[in-house]
Amino acid sequence: MTKKSVSSRKLWKLGATEYNTQYFDFNKDGDLVVKEGNNIYNIRYLADKMGTSLEILFPFIIEERLEDFLDLTTHLSKKVGYKGKFLYHYPMKVNQNKEVVMALVGEGAHLETSSFNDLWLVKRMLEQESFNPNIRILCSGPKTDKYINLIDDLQHKGVKIFPLIEGPNELKFLQHSKYDVGIRLDMPIKAASYWNKPIDRFGFSAKEIIEMGSFKNLKILHYHIGSQIEKLSDVLGPIKYALDVYFKVKEKNPSLDTIDIGGGMPIPYTRNRSYPIEKLMERIFTLVKKESEKRGMPHPNLICEWGRYIVAPAQVTVFKIIDTKKIANKKADAKKWYVIDGSFMNDLLDTWAIGQKWSVIPLNSKHDDKLEDVWLAGSSCDSDDIYTGVNGYVTLPDYDMNKSQDPMYIAVMDTGAYQDPLAAHHCMLSSPLKIIAENGHIVVARKRETPDEVGKNFGW
Ligand SMILES: Cc1ncc(COP(=O)(O)O)c(C=O)c1O
Repeated sequence: MTKKSVSSRKLWKLGATEYNTQYFDFNKDGDLVVKEGNNIYNIRYLADKMGTSLEILFPFIIEERLEDFLDLTTHLSKKVGYKGKFLYHYPMKVNQNKEVVMALVGEGAHLETSSFNDLWLVKRMLEQESFNPNIRILCSGPKTDKYINLIDDLQHKGVKIFPLIEGPNELKFLQHSKYDVGIRLDMPIKAASYWNKPIDRFGFSAKEIIEMGSFKNLKILHYHIGSQIEKLSDVLGPIKYALDVYFKVKEKNPSLDTIDIGGGMPIPYTRNRSYPIEKLMERIFTLVKKESEKRGMPHPNLICEWGRYIVAPAQVTVFKIIDTKKIANKKADAKKWYVIDGSFMNDLLDTWAIGQKWSVIPLNSKHDDKLEDVWLAGSSCDSDDIYTGVNGYVTLPDYDMNKSQDPMYIAVMDTGAYQDPLAAHHCMLSSPLKIIAENGHIVVARKRETPDEVGKNFGW
């Protein structure tokens, strides 16, 4: 048991730009609130009113993050004297929800799709006339016949689409397309990231690409080394390698003018500071400029596909504690189980899949003078459906269901990236209700699933 000696705001690391919590605060009643200009959303009130489990998406956070990022790149490229263009492509796999994609596109994002179905959403936007003709689309992922046909169809309609060639079969027909293409480089430099596997199946080695000779339509050299790249030097090393390949390939392919560095900018999920984006971007522009000028070549255009960095902080997932239980084993790092009315395995699946860590905070700070180290358990029957925190426990207000009049709610922070597309229905549990908080209004984006709706997925 720990005693609080700092303010609730400090204790839960709210109001801090370095943790992307500048929008969050506790009000005078101790309720967690999110501030969008003059609009204030009381999360504790929303949990009471709408029920839990509950996902709350704040599109204004996405818009602000992208706007700030694009302003930063414009400022830094001028400061450094970088002459190539810089383009941001949002990788749709990160979160395909309409409110997310539309918020980004409205702020000037281009897109990256990874499947036929992703691209079909782009077609849908085009048909609904909610499509800016200047948007550029990169298509990665295996190019099935359907995917290729849709790329073709959209190219004929004038959409600026660039398939990225990732394998030998795609190479056969895309190399001779009359439209521009990109090619994926299999990056041999390893970074400290869960996803940077020693061997993967994506792309071609530098030697293979150089030996392919001349393509009439090669525009982009692309690579992606992984997500949540922890060290700044692990971002810069691959750029240097890719530049070397780029200039060699460009000798036979003068149309090549762009390097796409993929995704990877990290999120401080565990509330440890990572490298600042200002520093990283300045180092990227400076490096690419220097390497280009050393060879007497024009600065290439640069693309990045940072997904989680832009969208993760824009969503919180809220659960109610529906039971508490002592952990009898003295060797455990925590003292109590808090059982939530949702599931880590279903609703925050990366917790189980890759040991994803989260910052977890109470929706009311009234009782945070008395804290307890706990483990969180999901409502499925699975012993893996748990979250045991960053250091082996989650610190939360000590909660005694028998004594307390108020329900206890918690918010899992930064859940906007990947968790929705990965979500599942273990034990037939319903997905959380999903609401959008925007311009002072609350809109239900996904109703709470009924047993009938969940059952339909299983043929009932
Ligand atoms: C090709 C590609 N680009 C971009 C991303 C986005 O990565 P992140 O969300 O870490 O920025 C991914 C993620 O898997 C990817 O596979």
